[in-house]
Amino acid sequence: MKYEDFSWDFRDSNTKELTHCFHAYPAMMIPQVARRLLYKYGDSAETLFDPYCGSGTSLVEANVKDINAIGTDLNPLARLIAKTKTTPIDIQTLDLYLKDFYDYSFKFQFYIQKSISVVVPDFANIDFWFSENAQKKLSLIRDYIDNIKDSKVKNFFLTTFSETVRESSYTKKGEFKLVRIPEEKRTKFNPDSFGIMLSKLSRNKAGLLEFIKQKRNGSVARIFDFNSVDSVPKEIIPDESVDIIITSPPYGDSRTTVAYGQYSRLANQWMGIKNASKVDNLLMGGVRYNSRFKFNSQYLNETLERIEQTDSKRMAEVGSFFIDYKKSIDNISKSVKKNGFVCYVVGNRTVKGINIPMDLITKDFFEENGFRHIETIIRNIPNKRMPSQNSPSNIPGIKSSTMKNEFIVICEKN
Ligand SMILES: C[S@@+](CC[C@H](N)C(=O)[O-])C[C@H]1O[C@@H](n2cnc3c(N)ncnc32)[C@H](O)[C@@H]1O
Repeated sequence: MKYEDFSWDFRDSNTKELTHCFHAYPAMMIPQVARRLLYKYGDSAETLFDPYCGSGTSLVEANVKDINAIGTDLNPLARLIAKTKTTPIDIQTLDLYLKDFYDYSFKFQFYIQKSISVVVPDFANIDFWFSENAQKKLSLIRDYIDNIKDSKVKNFFLTTFSETVRESSYTKKGEFKLVRIPEEKRTKFNPDSFGIMLSKLSRNKAGLLEFIKQKRNGSVARIFDFNSVDSVPKEIIPDESVDIIITSPPYGDSRTTVAYGQYSRLANQWMGIKNASKVDNLLMGGVRYNSRFKFNSQYLNETLERIEQTDSKRMAEVGSFFIDYKKSIDNISKSVKKNGFVCYVVGNRTVKGINIPMDLITKDFFEENGFRHIETIIRNIPNKRMPSQNSPSNIPGIKSSTMKNEFIVICEKN
């Protein structure tokens, strides 16, 4: 069954409740979708798994419903945000640090121009993305965070710092890719990094308080760095141990669709993550295979044939993505209990003017793994933060609009 249902749009809903307010992330799922899926398909669930957890939307919702959550993502920034959003902190301890940081920032905020000795990190292109003044302020904030002993509080500050880094950089606002503002704007740009940090800390504390109040139970979220395309480690997720998967997978490689690694690069660099500029290559579709690209999905084979007629290189890129996607679904399927559910929120994109029916392909891949299709709900995406234009032809400057709606594909394990 496949049908459009406007009640899944959540057009006027607040998508920034609880810890969902913490940090923007490309192609975030909206909490209301995860919540409704949990009520519909996870009522008696004990364990939820999100194999591409990103900023952790479904993990937060699981914990609020007293369901333990496991999330994986290859992007270090995503794991940090997801961990912080699902970790209750003792508020008295947090308050002590907040007060202390306020005093610390007051000391520097107005005297930053004076010669303060501060060690600025040494990573490629730092001068391209940050003014000297911003580098000093961010280094001072980073120094403060380095000295935080409590690991939960430290992650809370780091998550806030990540957004502060972005807003203190020459990055153009409203873009997920790294685009630098023009020179005339750069010369006038003097970000108040301490002020940004303080205001986000206060917003995040309010979100955390709401999360702690609603959670009131012992469920936990565990977040791991492994690639389900290679395998799902049994010691972490044994076979048939998961009641429900709620996830929004990538819908193509990072180069031509959403560049999660690029979006996260500056923050990852400031946090000392090695190879921060290589994250996109690790993600699904990051490797090009030399293969015949024949699948058991007729929809996918026909789509690839059509793309090949105009561009065989693009066909190989898309085919390589689906090799990874299929391997990941094969591995993930094993972790689901009998009669457990998978809910995949996917978008259908266009390459060379040809629609790629991700929803039908996803359904085919799960059916091949012993699942039966229950329903596919079509929803509009008024809230979801995604680039509304991409470059399907892969020619710089030529854009076309991407998804305006998305598909929630639900299958049950036989
Ligand atoms: C659409 S986003 C998920 C957004 C998330 N639902 C949220 O609300 O923030 C897809 C995620 O998949 C991750 N990803 C891509 N390839 C991956 C892989 N092979 N293994 C694990 N995560 C991967 C990306 O880093 C990205 O965070």
